[in-house]
Amino acid sequence: MSLALDLSGRRVLITGAGQGVGRGLTLDFAASGAEVMVNDLHTDRAESVVSEVHTAGGRALPVPFDVTDYASVTDALSAAGSPDILINNAGNAGAEGFGSRSAFADTEPASWEPFLKVNLYGVMYCTRAVLPAMIANKWGRVITIVSDAGRTGDAGGAAYAASKAGAAGLTRSIALEAGRHGVTANNIALGTMRTPLTEPLWAQADSPQAKAILQNYAIRRPGSPGDVSHLAIVLASDHGSWITGQTIPVNGGYSFAL
Ligand SMILES: NC(=O)c1ccc[n+]([C@@H]2O[C@H](COP(=O)([O-])OP(=O)(O)OC[C@H]3O[C@@H](n4cnc5c(N)ncnc54)[C@H](O)[C@@H]3O)[C@@H](O)[C@H]2O)c1
Repeated sequence: MSLALDLSGRRVLITGAGQGVGRGLTLDFAASGAEVMVNDLHTDRAESVVSEVHTAGGRALPVPFDVTDYASVTDALSAAGSPDILINNAGNAGAEGFGSRSAFADTEPASWEPFLKVNLYGVMYCTRAVLPAMIANKWGRVITIVSDAGRTGDAGGAAYAASKAGAAGLTRSIALEAGRHGVTANNIALGTMRTPLTEPLWAQADSPQAKAILQNYAIRRPGSPGDVSHLAIVLASDHGSWITGQTIPVNGGYSFAL
């Protein structure tokens, strides 16, 4: 088998692909030959990323929908067709940009819902919608973008951490159920990235807050979308066919997997 990671002939659905990590995944998967179904809640963002792919000579189509609305997910996929690869990337960290942080004892149930809806139910809805076709095809890949917060816990972000840990547990269960049908399912657990979500922090890289965060990283820089996409491409390729049920940290050494 050649080492070239050619995804020609594969279709990948990337949720929340209108900016940040999802945009980076889209550009790199398209450059590897895949046709990318570019999802986002914001249609203009999805269309803008599709235009970038077309300008670079790749194949992509906008598939906007809200991952928290199961009927919208299934309607959009009925119209656009099934992917071979699903990347559950759409995420909610509390708000567009930085969400507020509170000790769990000071939070109310209503404040947990945005995290659980996008980060857990959104992953369940999209995975449920695409899995039967993958099983029928005897080939499929599910990659869920989670967070170190779900592995280590997050003081001030308990609901976010719980939602990400839940999504990772779902993905492991899919690995167990669907492995015999040629479908793998893995999580990529990110540390702090430089994306529009966190740009206010990194725009002042010399700030005490930025320096304090980087003190906890063996490699003292935030991650970039490219740090994620190349691992995702390996997992999505035929080279990844015996890697399943894993949560692989891509985190600059913030925490280590045992
Ligand atoms: N940025 C970080 O430091 C960091 C760290 C750990 C994990 N992550 C995870 O990585 C993923 C991507 O993060 P990012 O920094 O690129 O985020 P981002 O906020 O920059 O981009 C997320 C995209 O998802 C879209 N989205 C949000 N809710 C949606 C919904 N209901 N349906 C469809 N699309 C929706 C948004 O419109 C946005 O374009 C998320 O799952 C996030 O939790 C990020």
